Amino acid sequence: MLQGKKIILGITGSIAAYKAAYLIRGLVKKGAEVQVVITPAGKEFITPITLSALSSHPVISEFFSNRDGSWHSHVDLGLWADAMVIAPATASTIGKMAHGIADNMLVTTYLSCKAPVFIAPAMDLDMFAHPATQQNLEILKGFGNYIIEPGEGELASHLVGKGRMEEPDKILEVLEDFFSSGQELQKKKIVITAGPTYEKIDPVRFIGNYSSGKMGFALAEACAKRGADVTLITGPVSLSTIHPHIHRIDVESAEEMYGMAMQLFPQADAGILCAAVADYRPAVVADKKIKRESNENMTLELTANPDIAASMGAIKKPHQVLVGFALETNDELTHATDKLNRKNLDFIVLNSLREEGAGFRGDTNKISIIDANGNVKEFSLQLKTAVAEDIIDHLVVTLKNKSVLFEA
Ligand code: CTP
Repeated sequence: MLQGKKIILGITGSIAAYKAAYLIRGLVKKGAEVQVVITPAGKEFITPITLSALSSHPVISEFFSNRDGSWHSHVDLGLWADAMVIAPATASTIGKMAHGIADNMLVTTYLSCKAPVFIAPAMDLDMFAHPATQQNLEILKGFGNYIIEPGEGELASHLVGKGRMEEPDKILEVLEDFFSSGQELQKKKIVITAGPTYEKIDPVRFIGNYSSGKMGFALAEACAKRGADVTLITGPVSLSTIHPHIHRIDVESAEEMYGMAMQLFPQADAGILCAAVADYRPAVVADKKIKRESNENMTLELTANPDIAASMGAIKKPHQVLVGFALETNDELTHATDKLNRKNLDFIVLNSLREEGAGFRGDTNKISIIDANGNVKEFSLQLKTAVAEDIIDHLVVTLKNKSVLFEA
């Protein structure tokens, strides 16, 4: 699995740096090409000569290798890699990565890296348990980075606890797993709706809502990263997509979104309905700007929009998976279960506005997943990017179960 893979190995200033030598040997043995980037503190723990001898490449540490104007391009390096592994990763480097403090070659390379990033923390147990470190790790998880949790045992301080960098063999296993099974959604076509809809009142006004589209965009990235072909039908948002396998279709109103979704869903393996669709639109759209009238009140007549999720649920074939969202303020479980059944969904992602940090606009969410058998799985408050990974894990399992039962 690692044959021919290009790996950047980032090494930072920790006693566990000696383990990096074993890791390089293991990677090279399995056919990977390894380029070491080391922080200045890392060099205090292991010499570049050892590392370059094992990797057969000069070790990179400084921006400028010679005083002749030539420099190491962190951009080229970041684009070269199939994966970046930071092992050992100190609390300091983890903090810099989480906050974009690019004051050394390792962190600049990390910020330029488009490949998956694996982080193997190594530090004293109290440093690891400190909320600062834990929050930084959560941020990195939210960026889609993989954290290889440290093990428990005797630490350099002779204290016993969690903080030992994971053994090189285990890190190799994680990488092999990733390259063999990271593409669980390969060849799957997934249609995702995201963002708000705008329902025109007149040429300058609309009815809309506060949806930012962040959750739907995070889901699109998470699916594409796992190999899916994604079509993202989005209402008006100020977000951009990153992954090349996301085909974005911009729409404005619920009717436009409905039209695209119904056209694309029959060829898809799954649909994820994350858009905050306006339930109603003005019955008549004025062709000229509506003028202020002398009377105090104004009445706008509204007519119902199509229910995209329910319409897709009605044409869903047995092998297809349909996922909906429910944002509730009260009787959450009852309302979400009702929507799940009414719209013929396979599972529904519930978020309650009563939970702090959940819902739209923000960067975080706290969800529960309810499936068609009534099973409820609760998750903790996380960044939307991390929430997306949990939802897609569930989707992968649901698709797998269905493909055992029904042929596409
Ligand atoms: N949905 C949709 N089309 C609509 C309304 C909702 O596709 N016209 C989808 C949403 O994207 C979401 C799910 O249906 O996945 C539930 O949305 P919600 O607005 O909570 O459901 P409604 O049926 O409109 O119920 P409510 O009365 O709570 O507004």
